[in-house]
Amino acid sequence: MTANQPLIFALPKGRILAQATPVLARAGIAIEPDFADPDTRKLRFRTSDPGLDVITVRSFDVATFVAFGAAHLGIAGNDVLMEFDFPEIYAPLDLGVGRCRLAVAEPAEMSATDDPRQWSHIRIATKYPNVTRRHFARRGVQAECIKLNGALELAPRLGLCRRIVDLVSTGATLEANGLVEVERIADVTSRLAVNRAALKTRADEVQSWIARFRTAVDARAA
Ligand code: PRP
Repeated sequence: MTANQPLIFALPKGRILAQATPVLARAGIAIEPDFADPDTRKLRFRTSDPGLDVITVRSFDVATFVAFGAAHLGIAGNDVLMEFDFPEIYAPLDLGVGRCRLAVAEPAEMSATDDPRQWSHIRIATKYPNVTRRHFARRGVQAECIKLNGALELAPRLGLCRRIVDLVSTGATLEANGLVEVERIADVTSRLAVNRAALKTRADEVQSWIARFRTAVDARAA
């Protein structure tokens, strides 16, 4: 992409988007009206700044677009950043939104007698096989991961596995499916993700956006 084309900013669809929108506003980004239309099929939007366009993609795909330079900047949870561990992404700023945790859960009745310190080999359904394997390998537990893309909470009841690793926010989804959290792997928030090459090739623009987001986050904290 050449320097006279707008920078591309990748936003995650779904829950984080609603929380991230005020941060964008505080950073001075007003997105064209179609963006707020729930029926729009558009995926790329102009902003009040002719030098910046916004795209909406799945949360995991934000990291992929930014890592490969298809987007210069984005908002990604550190769950996604940890899972891919892309060296091409620099994530300098915690935006303080999308707060939740990545946790291990299992059926409530099982947790009464199950002691995580006794685990040596476990089978786990998760969207995060890399983070999960790394987490358990650190304490000598072999985690056999079954990759799912959603509705993980169904897996224990249907015999796919006994445990899951998933995001927990209010805990309502676990509770509704008879599961309890037994171990926390990481706290999660959304971060500003930056393509490292863009940081060099379009340094002034990219640094200016990092500074604007830093100011927006500080204003929120004040
Ligand atoms: C996430 C996560 C859980 C749920 C937890 O799913 O995968 O299912 O939120 O939230 P809670 O603790 O407040 O109930 P999300 O709604 O983001 O959709 P997904 O299944 O597509 O990941």
